[in-house]
Amino acid sequence: MVSRVIPVEPFDLVIFGGTGDLARRKILPGLYRRFQAGQMPPESRIIGAARGELTDADFRGMVAAAIAEFLPAAQQDAAVIEDFLTRLHYIPIDAKGDSGWPQLKALIRADVVQAFYFSVAPALFGDLAGRLTSWGIAGPEARIVVEKPFGRDLATAQALNATLAQHFSEGQIYRIDHYLGKETVQNLMAVRFANILFEPLWKSEYVDHVQITVAETVSVEGRGAYYDTSGAMRDMVQNHLMQLLCLIAMEPPYHFDPAAVRDEKLKVIRALDPVRPEDIVRGQYLASNGQGGYLEHSENPQSRTESYIALKCHISNWRWKGTPFYLRTGKRLRARASEIAITFKEPPHSIFDDAEGWRENVLVIRLQPDEGMNLKVMIKEPGPGGMRLVQVPLDMSFAEALGDAHGDVPDAYERLIMDVIRGNQTLFMRGDEVEAAWAWADPIIEGWEARGDRPQPYDAGSSGPEDALMLMHRDGRRWREIR
Ligand code: BG6
Repeated sequence: MVSRVIPVEPFDLVIFGGTGDLARRKILPGLYRRFQAGQMPPESRIIGAARGELTDADFRGMVAAAIAEFLPAAQQDAAVIEDFLTRLHYIPIDAKGDSGWPQLKALIRADVVQAFYFSVAPALFGDLAGRLTSWGIAGPEARIVVEKPFGRDLATAQALNATLAQHFSEGQIYRIDHYLGKETVQNLMAVRFANILFEPLWKSEYVDHVQITVAETVSVEGRGAYYDTSGAMRDMVQNHLMQLLCLIAMEPPYHFDPAAVRDEKLKVIRALDPVRPEDIVRGQYLASNGQGGYLEHSENPQSRTESYIALKCHISNWRWKGTPFYLRTGKRLRARASEIAITFKEPPHSIFDDAEGWRENVLVIRLQPDEGMNLKVMIKEPGPGGMRLVQVPLDMSFAEALGDAHGDVPDAYERLIMDVIRGNQTLFMRGDEVEAAWAWADPIIEGWEARGDRPQPYDAGSSGPEDALMLMHRDGRRWREIR
């Protein structure tokens, strides 16, 4: 299978915060990869803009070092890197003052796609948006890209949306949730809407429950200051897990386009019931094997911030009434594993006597690592002894099924940045979606704050706090193992 690369239009992309961590880890290596793949036209330019007094040469040196550090050796091609670096420029800029803006204005071309990536603290979004327009730098078709966290509650998200709206229209604002750029996350839509097999069963009549797991092994070491203002609910659930939930639960959009897809996702978020306190479990990882626990990584030794959360939620609409969705995510867990598991109900009547051997059908979509799908089905156990049943997996690894084409799959940021240049907002969050997600998350957070709940400690390398197991056991269900 050959992957098809369609070049985008020539562009000028300005990365505010161009020397920051995200730019070095993801954005710039990702752009190099698109250049290498032939998707970024050679006349395009990337302009780093930040406070530091760097020259173009310094910036190019920094980007070369980032490519060397963050991309596997096999993806590094010295000649291509050298060529790519000549497309890079740097402008020292003051987001809150005048310096740098005239230079930026002089550099930016009006006859190519203009994109401005705000890889900076949200407190600066207003300053940047304002100066881009007041200096006449951003043209009417310019796009701005903003990173999460998009607010820390409904009020701050509304304020951010209002600030951006003073300078740019919704069609120009690209709010990134990098989970939407992941190959397998988009595959959720292909699996559901490009096959007839699953959709007729995709409803509470046939689905017993859904589990969404995003388990990580990393700690928050080095990010404690940020994480303490956030916690797993704001950092992961309000955005990444919420987006997964939407893609699983939404009605079929009439077309794969930004308005249709985002309208359907919004309906799901709005149909979410409030979550009951007894349906939430929060945890904090403990120290282990010489590695610090959450309290050592936090800046606050008394911190009550959760590094783990599990919760049960319900969607009140015709399709999903009665089917619980269980969500969990945490740091320092046993394995890095993200998956969605859809467990189906019993057949209405069994013609076989072997009730013991029977297990539910489960469709597991593995998001990372080892992306793939696994459908557990019942068959007859081979050999004599009557009609005994056994469950077997129909297992498909995308890497095996797709061969070389899979190895070339762009990383989430690569894809999303190219979508910005193409002007396709389908995989970006609309302002009303973000606000609806906060409107659902806020009372949950306010609830545990008002109650003074403490997160439960859990062992690093485990699958989370004991009570998370109980959340399922109470309902006669169990989590799938994290491995
Ligand atoms: C980020 C969170 O948005 O996503 C991090 O801030 C988290 O805390 C990361 O580790 C997970 O992303 P991925 O792509 O590694 O699953």
